Amino acid sequence: MEIIIRETAKDATDVAARLIAKLLEEKPNAVLGLATGSTPLQLYRTLIDMKLDWSRVTTFNLDEYIGLPREHPQTYHSFMWENLFGHINIDPKNIHIPDGNTADVPATCADYEAQISKAGGIDLQILGIGTDGHIGFNEPTSSLASRTRIKTLTRRTREDNARFFENPEDVPHHTITMGIGTIMESRLNLLLAFGENKAQAIAETVEGPIAAVNPASILQMHPNAKLFLDQPAASKLQRIDYYNYVYESKPAWQTF
Ligand code: PGA
Repeated sequence: MEIIIRETAKDATDVAARLIAKLLEEKPNAVLGLATGSTPLQLYRTLIDMKLDWSRVTTFNLDEYIGLPREHPQTYHSFMWENLFGHINIDPKNIHIPDGNTADVPATCADYEAQISKAGGIDLQILGIGTDGHIGFNEPTSSLASRTRIKTLTRRTREDNARFFENPEDVPHHTITMGIGTIMESRLNLLLAFGENKAQAIAETVEGPIAAVNPASILQMHPNAKLFLDQPAASKLQRIDYYNYVYESKPAWQTF
């Protein structure tokens, strides 16, 4: 795991954006895994401003609520069009978001996995993290080998996400999410976490044991996982000096 700590969320985001831009330059037909929520908003703004060529890029979103009409402002479909897809030259046929209105959830999930495989797998997956350590909507105790499937949100996640809804009761109970096994097959996992409310989950992810009660901790087993943190999100880590030393000592060929 590589831990990159910058003073502010914007500074950390800028480093992550440079890494993504470099990938798209080297591989114009890259397959990106995308996340929603407040954390990647600045990243998407920065990528839009970079005016990258997305014409051959394929994307797969991590998750989607079940049961909200697709045009509802809080679906991840709406989020992605508003905050990224509507501002870049991506080909709509290369966009994939789980269908939260499917009549056959298992078949839709199996098909999502098949489409990821057909695209050649995900080159770079962007991840946020829940205050409970979830990645995608893989809530604590999710199987660490899980594939795309239905998940029931925890009360805490529903409360965390209520801020986006007019009425907290409107937060859906169920989602379709890529599984942890799916995420682990991405060739690069890039997790962003900002703010003091993520500090505990980050400390457990980086320095705690690998355990399904903190799903993000499985990234310790990933060969190429990079965490981009602001100082508040890093504040409960024990080995900050070492992580900073590693980042500052990077050989030139490893920098981005
Ligand atoms: P947030 O959500 O970016 O809105 O904090 C992160 C997540 O739940 O994965």
